[in-house]
Amino acid sequence: MTTIYPVVWSNNKVLLIDQTCLPSQYTLVEINRYEDMAKAIKTMIVRGAPAIGVAAGYGMYLGAREINTKERETFLKKLEEVAEILRQTRPTAVNLFWAISRMLKTAYESIGTVEEIKNILLETAQKIQAEDLQTCQDIGKNSLQILPSNLEKLSILTHCNAGALATAGYGTALGVIRSVWAAGRLKRVYADETRPRLQGAKLTAWECVQEKIPVTVISDNMAAHCMQKGLIDMIVVGADRIAANGDAANKIGTYGVAVMAKMHDIPFYVAAPLSTVDFSLENGDLIPIEERDPSELYQIGDTVIYPDGVDYYNPAFDVTPAKLITGIITEQKTVKPGELISLKPELSYH
Ligand code: MRU
Repeated sequence: MTTIYPVVWSNNKVLLIDQTCLPSQYTLVEINRYEDMAKAIKTMIVRGAPAIGVAAGYGMYLGAREINTKERETFLKKLEEVAEILRQTRPTAVNLFWAISRMLKTAYESIGTVEEIKNILLETAQKIQAEDLQTCQDIGKNSLQILPSNLEKLSILTHCNAGALATAGYGTALGVIRSVWAAGRLKRVYADETRPRLQGAKLTAWECVQEKIPVTVISDNMAAHCMQKGLIDMIVVGADRIAANGDAANKIGTYGVAVMAKMHDIPFYVAAPLSTVDFSLENGDLIPIEERDPSELYQIGDTVIYPDGVDYYNPAFDVTPAKLITGIITEQKTVKPGELISLKPELSYH
């Protein structure tokens, strides 16, 4: 198995794979300061909910490292400021807020000198990363229980990139696909191109090619046709934030895929760690949806493709209602959306 780690701690700095350059260039960006980490998250050098959480964990440590005081109270006050800068980067993926609050909680609960707290924060960031890797592998393993028994091999459609690049290194939805492939049960992946940022075409397809997983990229408006033609046996997507009732926010276009899946009677699964569940939100209407710069829509490379005088709307995520979700594959087990609450872990967000 090829290993792809989007965030690496090496020689006292963070290395990020620049996901804005893939697939044409594989570039590593060095991050030494928390403001640069905030910028990298905002500009999507690092993206995907769990990877954003991992990056934010290290961002908190980098911020802590820069605080020049021996006074515990002053240190904690300044660490809150670092947390606030990191929180302002992207609003939808709850893993960002989850990781920041876990880092803050660790700092507040640590006794010892400021230097000792800093060391514990680095260990916690590394723990968040290691746990996510394990979590994704467990999600992959659990997914093998829900594969339809009447099909020897399956074609799975996914939307956006919920792969190694979007996590600590294995993937949620694409982690499921990796596991199904390793188990010899995968026929092919259909990767939605995923307008406007093309994470499916650029990142999911790149990951599949690295591992020689057969992948067909389709433009988003071809998905219904592929379902109608019987090309898709199952759909697996990731999530950026799941409400307590199982409504799931994911990359814009996911909701449409779920509606089409219902129409064609195709199982639609969300694969996500429990750190992506926001148990404080009763339902998906309460999930904040990021709106990004309209240039993502009207510009391809340097070329403007829309005429002057049109208005734009560029929401980055949508919410798939729980009633369209066959099951949520977590690190513990696969549950119906309504049963999610029974899995609330001690370290959940809220
Ligand atoms: O805007 P992005 O690229 O950060 O959005 C990513 C997604 O929507 C992913 O599907 C989601 O974060 C799950 S990643 C395991």
